[in-house]
Amino acid sequence: MATPRPNPGILDIAPYVPGESGKSASGREIKLSSNETPLGPSSAAIEAYSSVAGKLERYPDGQATVLRKAIAEVYGLDMSRIVCGAGSDELLNLLAQAYIGAGDEGILTEHGFLVYPIAILTNGGTPVIATERELVSDVDAILAKVSAKTRVVFLANPNNPTGTFIPDSEVRRLRTGLREDILLVLDGAYAEYVHAPGYDAGAALVTDTDNTVMTRTFSKIYGLAGLRIGWAYCPPAIADVLNRIRGPFNLSSQAIAAGTAAVRDQEHLIKAVAHNDRWLPWLTSELQKLGLKVTPSVANFLLMHFDGLAITAAEADEALKTRGIFLRRVASYNLPNALRMTVGTEEENRETVAAIKEIIIGKSLDVIAELNAAFESLAGAGTQPNTTSGSVGTGKPPNTTSGSVGIGKSPNTTSGNDKAPKE
Ligand SMILES: Cc1ncc(COP(=O)(O)O)c(C=O)c1O
Repeated sequence: MATPRPNPGILDIAPYVPGESGKSASGREIKLSSNETPLGPSSAAIEAYSSVAGKLERYPDGQATVLRKAIAEVYGLDMSRIVCGAGSDELLNLLAQAYIGAGDEGILTEHGFLVYPIAILTNGGTPVIATERELVSDVDAILAKVSAKTRVVFLANPNNPTGTFIPDSEVRRLRTGLREDILLVLDGAYAEYVHAPGYDAGAALVTDTDNTVMTRTFSKIYGLAGLRIGWAYCPPAIADVLNRIRGPFNLSSQAIAAGTAAVRDQEHLIKAVAHNDRWLPWLTSELQKLGLKVTPSVANFLLMHFDGLAITAAEADEALKTRGIFLRRVASYNLPNALRMTVGTEEENRETVAAIKEIIIGKSLDVIAELNAAFESLAGAGTQPNTTSGSVGTGKPPNTTSGSVGIGKSPNTTSGNDKAPKE
């Protein structure tokens, strides 16, 4: 029997796997897997959200006028060029829908945000991957991937999951190197956190060119991920295109009300930046002290690498989950031995570092004990069985000795929380 078939490319999409959450047996729940803010939204946003509860039978304003006006005023932008979406995900997908078709190519970087290939494939296009240089987007590598079929370049700046950025001068060099008919999408989901010299989220480039769009979100620093609010700053012709194809009421009344209040509460945003500025460097240095390599991040998360350690990222993740701590595996980003951690509250940060330390030490003790047992077993094999005592080795059967090599513990004898679970 014939069944409906999805369009070409759709079944090539690896479904997006969101950051995990849950609780440990003791009820602990620390979710640092989705780059959400530990401060929550502005109280003004929560109040505004509730204020529309009595009017739910009404459609929302399809133009999200008050929200676009607030964004324009706060960010110093032209309101007519702002298009809002149900999260920036919706806008990224709409841009792909409008500008990528069957046979076209969209470029993203090696560890670029996973929504880009989904958006490209959904519209029959082919994702083309440009290598990064030490986990940083590489303009030359992107330009080298341009072909006659390229229609869009997606660049997260800073990127998720690496947390790295390229300066405005490099973004402009990219724009200059791209053909004029190629749309450059600058995804600034984490822009508010960044104050690194040379960084710019791209609004000026949008104003200066006809072929660059900047996308932004209320899901991160504004703490409104659950409401789904994003916005795009566009050249007028592209804003017109997005307004033609988006749902006529793509933002709910609650999203419009809460988003408007949130963006007008810049004091709350300043607090969130200050919190991040305090804890991002602390986490970086504490994790480095544990022997983890940490990619320098300018966002509200960081990437820690387990290479060279006794434990893999997957093992550490499992051990953390049993303690109720949820970080983000990034194997789907082609980073199989790394974990991404969102900056949390002070307590969450301290507890997570302590747990990682415990897990790494526990695993290292296990490895030493295993080596010890192997050494003793070899030493035992070198002796004449059942003849002498006190010559080579200990003269005792393997795995019964103590105190010879390293810490002298055999596997499975370390206690309590210091042990990583066995896979
Ligand atoms: C780089 C990047 N772009 C866009 C998004 C999507 O955000 P939104 O919640 O606005 O859809 C995310 C969310 O994780 C992200 O990391």
